[in-house]
Amino acid sequence: MEKCLIAALSVLYLAIVAQCAPPRLDPYNFDGVDFYQLFNDPDGHLKLNPRLKTDDLIRAHEYPAELHHVTTEDGYIIGVFRIPYSHKLQNQKALRPIVLLQHGILGSSDNWITMGPDNALAFQLVDAGYDVWIGNARGNTYSRNHTRLATQHPYFWRFSWHEIGYFDIAAMIDYALETNGQGQKSIHYVGHSQGTTVFLALMSARPEYNAKIKTAQLLAPVAYMDNMDFPLAHATGPYLGHRTTYALMLESMEFLPYNDFILLLLYNTCGPDSRFLKYCKKLHNTDGRTNSTAAAINAITTPAGVSTNQFLHYLQEQQSGHFREYDFGKKKNLNVYGAEVPPDYPTHLITCKTHLWYSDNDEMAAVKDVERLADTLPNKVMHHMDDPLWHHGDFATNWEVRKYINDPIIEIMNEFENALRN
Ligand SMILES: *[C@@H]1O[C@H](CO)[C@@H](O)[C@H](O)[C@H]1NC(C)=O
Ligand SMILES: *[C@@H]1O[C@H](CO)[C@@H](O)[C@H](O)[C@H]1NC(C)=O
Repeated sequence: MEKCLIAALSVLYLAIVAQCAPPRLDPYNFDGVDFYQLFNDPDGHLKLNPRLKTDDLIRAHEYPAELHHVTTEDGYIIGVFRIPYSHKLQNQKALRPIVLLQHGILGSSDNWITMGPDNALAFQLVDAGYDVWIGNARGNTYSRNHTRLATQHPYFWRFSWHEIGYFDIAAMIDYALETNGQGQKSIHYVGHSQGTTVFLALMSARPEYNAKIKTAQLLAPVAYMDNMDFPLAHATGPYLGHRTTYALMLESMEFLPYNDFILLLLYNTCGPDSRFLKYCKKLHNTDGRTNSTAAAINAITTPAGVSTNQFLHYLQEQQSGHFREYDFGKKKNLNVYGAEVPPDYPTHLITCKTHLWYSDNDEMAAVKDVERLADTLPNKVMHHMDDPLWHHGDFATNWEVRKYINDPIIEIMNEFENALRN
């Protein structure tokens, strides 16, 4: 049974990140297969072999790139990338407002640049004069580091997205403000999917951070999940969204680190005669809506490593209908929270200007759930996508992401900055 659940979770993962349907490989005989070569796309600007890191990808387009190690209050060391200025503008001396970009679950900083210099938000922002910081969550490829714990230590994986928001995002904001060196007191924030959840968790649990936010752009915001139209969550939720033996068994483990075996699985699961193909098709871009070069690069740089608790916490939300902290079970809840059930996030305390970008065809962030969240936010702006087919992944890799998402976001930030300076 546990194998079954692990398989179900794997499929949940695959459905989220499977991005292409390449030829099938023989799982019994894949010695010597060069995955980097298989994913390579000759039309892409970026070489995949050898595997490039975020800063290499940035430099491949001639932009300056920096890697910073940010230590959180609870000892995790997060890898954060920065594009400090634009080589086109040569604006290193000018005032460059800070913006922080935060990826979704199983993703990494790579996801903000794979669309290339003309379409990726990170490059567009730096060319618009911003100091661009690209975050990583604890546990992913770039954030497998701790002041005391080794990643092999089971305690390393005892976190969900609550801690990513509460500690990692807070630390990145403070670090960027300090390092920028221009006396800025606040930043712009852009998050996709889990990158929105962690923001909402931080801003409600530590409301003093609202003062550090100029604008927040939440793409496909995920908080309440009970209307989510995601078959695998419905299938696994009843088992894993409560304190069952299954959930306990899977708790606090590393889930799918980046490695060749996973890439093989990814290849085969979404291959032409796969049983799961319909999920891959339904959820991802065999529909011609997506930039396949960017999707291929994302496929090879993902999965970036997460704790199973991040999934369990989401499934708890889907089952409970609450947006609340992690459920450890009655006994430990009493110790940790002083109550048998975990506390709801007080989202009404999120006073910063919050823009919600959402769509009808989003299988993770249902319109009803986004609107329920919005009702609690005192200072929000709603941006409903006109395109009825726009889905969760479109916010990252749709052909027209520049027109529908990136350009409007940058305009909102520019307006904010212009108002400051006039
Ligand atoms: C871990 O963090 C330390 C301290 O910031 C840093 O010097 C080191 O390079 C990091 N290691 C990895 C593998 O990122
Ligand atoms: C697709 O992404 C690649 C970079 O990965 C970029 O070079 C190309 O311009 C993009 N194409 C479109 C039409 O967005």
